[in-house]
Order: sequence, then structure tokens, then C-alpha cells
Amino acid sequence: MKRIRNTILSCLALPALAFMAVSCGQEDETEARIDELLSQMTLREKIGQMNQLSVSGFSQKVADDIRRGATGSILNETDPAVINEYQRIAVEESRLGIPLLVARDVIHGYRTVFPIPLGMAATFDPELVERGARLTAEEVTASGIRWTFSPMLDVSRDARWGRIAESSGEDTYLNAVMGAAMVRGYQGDLSDSTSLAACAKHFVGYGAAESGRDYNSTWIPPRAMRNVYLPPFETAVKAGALTLMTSFNDNDGVPGTGNAELLKDVLRGEWGFDGFVVTDWASAAEMIPHGFASDGRHAASLAMNAGVDMDMMSNVYSAYLEDLVKRGEVKESDIDSAVRNILRVKFRLGLFDNPYVDVGKALEVQYNDSVMTAAYRTALESAVLLKNNGVLPLDRSKIRRVLVTGPMADAPHDQMGTWTFDGQKEHTITPLDAIRESWGDDVEVIYEPGLSYCREFNSRGVARAAEAARRADVILAFMGEEAIMSGEAHCLADITLKGGQREMIEALAASGKPLVLNIMAGRPLVLDMESEIADAILFSFHPGTMGGPAIADLLSGKASPSGRLPSTFPAASGQVPCYYSHNNTGRPFRGDETMLYDIPLEAAQTSLGNTSYMLDAGFNPLYPFGYGLTYSAFEYSLPTLDRQEYSDGDVIRVSFTLTNKGKAEATEVAQLYVRDLVGSVTRPVKELKGFRRVTLAPGESSEQVFELPVSELAFVGLDMKKKVEPGEFSLWVAGDSASGESVNFRVIR
Ligand code: GLC
Repeated sequence: MKRIRNTILSCLALPALAFMAVSCGQEDETEARIDELLSQMTLREKIGQMNQLSVSGFSQKVADDIRRGATGSILNETDPAVINEYQRIAVEESRLGIPLLVARDVIHGYRTVFPIPLGMAATFDPELVERGARLTAEEVTASGIRWTFSPMLDVSRDARWGRIAESSGEDTYLNAVMGAAMVRGYQGDLSDSTSLAACAKHFVGYGAAESGRDYNSTWIPPRAMRNVYLPPFETAVKAGALTLMTSFNDNDGVPGTGNAELLKDVLRGEWGFDGFVVTDWASAAEMIPHGFASDGRHAASLAMNAGVDMDMMSNVYSAYLEDLVKRGEVKESDIDSAVRNILRVKFRLGLFDNPYVDVGKALEVQYNDSVMTAAYRTALESAVLLKNNGVLPLDRSKIRRVLVTGPMADAPHDQMGTWTFDGQKEHTITPLDAIRESWGDDVEVIYEPGLSYCREFNSRGVARAAEAARRADVILAFMGEEAIMSGEAHCLADITLKGGQREMIEALAASGKPLVLNIMAGRPLVLDMESEIADAILFSFHPGTMGGPAIADLLSGKASPSGRLPSTFPAASGQVPCYYSHNNTGRPFRGDETMLYDIPLEAAQTSLGNTSYMLDAGFNPLYPFGYGLTYSAFEYSLPTLDRQEYSDGDVIRVSFTLTNKGKAEATEVAQLYVRDLVGSVTRPVKELKGFRRVTLAPGESSEQVFELPVSELAFVGLDMKKKVEPGEFSLWVAGDSASGESVNFRVIR
């Protein structure tokens, strides 16, 4: 038997060995082709490959630059015919025929727009997110664009920061899981012409911008960098991300574009990354205003010597590198390494063998059924039900007249959210469209927006909406943020609803009719008043092209909400940054502390609680990370572990029973959290280590098992070494980060 088994094994091994041999062979062939090209390239031509230009439309100057080998990549052109023409010039008219790498920020869809990445994270469904990325890649590569600047992996814990919209939220693990899913989805099979190079950005720590103000300094110490901000990038590199982008922020005084320790020691040295690194837009030259470079020449030298391969739109590489090499301040061997990295990606994408697209096909794939269905499904799963007093799902048999109101009810552009360059609002289906379409003749749909945009103050419009509310059986109010209110450089000091929205919500509630509040926004908002007076709140982030049908189907009960919060929703703007995986402090909040209006007028004593909280906001957020309701109710058994003690290298088997105690089929997102009770440094009170979507029929129970390798408990401790530290741990399985009962286990040496 043994002999046969060995034979079987060797037979099984053959294809794998063959595959490895082929891919090693391909890699060897690629390196040989790169060597050959490099040996023929002039220094100018090498520097040209390291220079990226933004262009829109056909520019003779850019065409001339391409022809003379002065640029190797363009971004922002989307017309397939124009891209083909630029590519033809590169391949057929430049001296060495090196194809262009054409890029675009396709970060949550191309023409068909998906929910913003923060919304995609709320699905807690990496398989769905991966499929969406794959379909987006097919849609966009048909136009000749083969590189996207996504996934954005900046752990973000401050909802004042506008770019939280582009992230997967506050949690390291969720950012890592979603980022790897996007890398796999975008890149797919590299030998296929639909493969879209991913770009893990912004390397690193950009999401910790002080006070939530974009581009601001970050102060992340090495241990937090290792335990919180770097892991999603390492996961993306391990998933095969072909490129990375440096970040605008200076961290502890060092700009991302000049950080040799991270770009060389960590990215190349520790992680073995062999793709290429591009700067963010003009971030090389921006080291001058940072006060890190004295001029463009110095900036070029700093970026080059830090390990940056390609300069996006600073032009400092094209202007100064040749002279820096001639003066010996930059080694030509480093130029060769950078060019090698860039050419390696172009070869891996098959651009040398297949640089052109079929212009006729480019339009055919846009808005195709598969990508629109995936966009719908993602919008459906990204919506988070924050409150429901039973008014949802709407009982259509008891509704003759519904009021659709609010500035986001029919806002096809804003519904798509930030970084939506190519989504065409004509294809967007708004909630008003969908409700009119799906509710047909048996319900009268009254539409009275009240406000024409989110920041508007319009008392007369609000009065008209309130009057209409009195005639309706239920109010569907669509509020939130216009797309422009989040995204790059769009930060807020106060994260409550703007304009006359809060006044309007109060006026609608005063009608006494059931009020369903639907919010579309690019960030967590403070919904303290809203959560008091609305009967239900559905938070859809910016849900994209198919947001309307998804929301209509959720409101009518055709589907049950299943989204979970990827970011904590604070009780007050002053609570941010706030996140669930905080440290405990020496004086943790107890819950019986004196609050602002409980302080006696004649109070003299100085101590009101002596714990870590705010007199006017307490400690707890309004809605915790991982939170979300469904149209049912789920019950968890206390988890059981297969052992009480584990060693490094073991796998912890966590068993639990999940039961749907409600009356509707629904999907629960079971979440696995762990706490390291004592460490060589203080540890978070909880850390997400796993999650799973489980769909159950009413009354159905399911035995579930999480398998958690003990190695996943490793962290960088006092000695700056990453390892699992022996000791006591607590573990939860629950529906959000604030629920559940814990069980304990020990890790022994
Ligand atoms: C922007 C953004 C970056 C984007 C790049 C190209 O400034 O910071 O995320 O990919 O420029 O548009």
C-alpha cells in the first residue's frame, strides 16, 4: 500500500512540480528578456520607464515623449482608441518598443460602480468583493487600462478623515482580508489580458493622519507600525500585488516617499517584494514643502535612494536622475533595479506580447449583466441595519401611500460616492427609481425631496416634505453626504448630518408617521438624535450604480440586511479617533461614572469617576465595530474549545452553535475575537481573528467551527520581535465587537 501511495503521491506531485517548473521557466525567461532590454537601453530610456504622466485625450507632447522613450506609463486616459494609439507609438515608433503601462483609479468599479470600499468591507464577504474586483478588471482592461491604484489598505480610525471612505475601516485583519481579496480579483490569472495590476496603497500609515486632517503628519511608533498598519500590506504582497504606492504623510518626520527603512528593509528585505513602487501624485516633489528635500534634485535623490521605482507626476526623475548618476550621487545599478522591477510587471502582464485592445469590444463589456448583478449583490450586502423597531420590512399590504423624501432619494451622481471618475450617472438606479419601479401601481409613491442637496438649508422645502408626510402611511427619508463630502482632502471636524437634514428629520418625525431613515455617506456619522427619533435606520454608505434596487429590496423584505460596521460609529464627534481594539488603560471605563448633567451644582470634589471617559459623551460609541441587525434574531451558544492549553504551532478549534430564533431567513456574520490578557506590552481589549457569513432559515441551528492557528496570536512585543507570548487569553464568538461571553485558554511554551 505504501508503495502505491508513494506512486500516487508522486503522480499528484507531478502536475505541481510541472507547474512550478513552467512558472520558474517563465520567470527565468522574463529575467533574461529584461537583461537583454536593459543592456540595450540608454540611461535616458531607463529613466523614461520611471516617469509616469497624467494625460486625458491625445496630446502630441505626450506622444512625442512616448516616441522618444521619455515615459513608460500614463494615467487617466480612458478612451480605448486613444490608448491604442499611444501604445502603438510606444511599441512601433520608440527605439526599443517597450509597451506602456496604462493606469486609472478604479477603486470601486469602473463604469459599473460598486459600493465605496468602506461599504464593500461592510459585507464581510471577501469572496463577493473578490468577484467584484475580477468583473471590474474585465470591464476596465477591455479599454487598455491594465493598472489600478487599489486596494487602499490604510487602517482608518478617525471618521473625520475623508479617505476613510476608500479604506476597509478600522481593523487590521479586515483590511488585510479585503485587500488580499481585491488583489486576487483584480489580477486574476496574470497571463490573461483581463489581468489588472493591483497597487497596495498608501504605504504606510496614511490613515492615522493627525486630527483626521488629510496629508497631515502621523506619529506611529515602530511597534504600532508592525502590529496595526503594516500587516495589510504584507498580506497584499503575499497575495501577489504587483505594485505599491508611497503615502503622502510624513511619519515621525519621514515622508512615505523617502522612507528607505520601509521601502527597502521591510518591503524588499523582509517581504521579498519584486514588483515596483510608484509615488503618490507628485509626492516626490512634495518632500520639498515637507522640508525633507531642499529642491527637486534633492527630492529625486531621496526618493531614488529610498527605493522608489516610478515617479508619478513630479517629473523630478526625468529632470535630475541623469545628472545625479553622472555625479555619482545615484548609482546606475539602482536605476537598473528600478527599471527591472517595472519591466518585470509589464512582462508579467503580457504587455510585450499583447499590448493592444479591440476598441469595438471595450464598450460591449461595460455595464454587462454579470458586473451589474455583482454590483447589486454587493450593495445589498453592504447595507447595515442600525435600528429597527419593527417597522421594517415594510408590510406592503398595509401601505397605500409612501413618501420618498430627502436629498439622497434621487441623487444618481452622489449615490456612487467618491473616486467615481468613470461611472455614468445615467446608469445609476436611485432609490426613487427602484421604489417607483418595484412598488408598481398598488402603492402611491409621493416624492417630495425637501432639500435638493445634503448641505442645503431650505425651511420651505422641509415644510413641504413634512406636509407630504402627513398624507403618507410611511416615510422613506434618504439623507447623508454628497459624494464630494468624503474622499481625498475632504475632511470634516463635525461628523453630523449637514445642512437642514437634522431639522428635516425632526420635522418628518413630528408628523407621527413611521420614519425609515436611509443614510448614504462616505464615513461613519454621529447619529445621536437620529437614532432616538427614527423608527429604523439603514446605512448604505455610498452604494453605487445599483444602490436603488438593493435598498428597495431590503426595505420591502425581499432580502434581509446583513452588513456589519467596518468602523465604529461614535456617539459624538469628539470621541474620534475611536475603535474597538483599543487598549484597556489603567483606569478603564466602568459604566457608573458621573456624567455632565449629573454633576451637582455645588460639586467641589475633583474626581467624578476617575476612569477614562468623557463627561459629555461617556465612553461607549453609538454603534460598535461589527454591529448590524437583520430581520431575524440570532443566538450563539457559548463557544467550546477542543483544549484548554495550546502551544505555538497548534490550531485552536472553536465550536459554537448558531440558531436563527426569528421568523425570517437571514444571514449572520459570526465574528471571532481574541484578547491577550497580559503581554510584554499592553494589548488591545479585543482583536478580530476571523469571521463568517452564515445564512439560516427561521428556527434553523448550525454547528460552526472556527480554526484559529495559535501563530495568529503573534505580535511584536517589548523586544520588537514578532512572536506568540505564553499566557492567558480570552475568546469570543459574537455578532459584533461589543457582545458575547468569553471563554479562556492558555498558551504554554
Ligand atoms: C491621488 C491619491 C491616490 C491616487 C493618485 C492617482 O492623489 O492620493 O490615492 O491613486 O493620486 O490618482
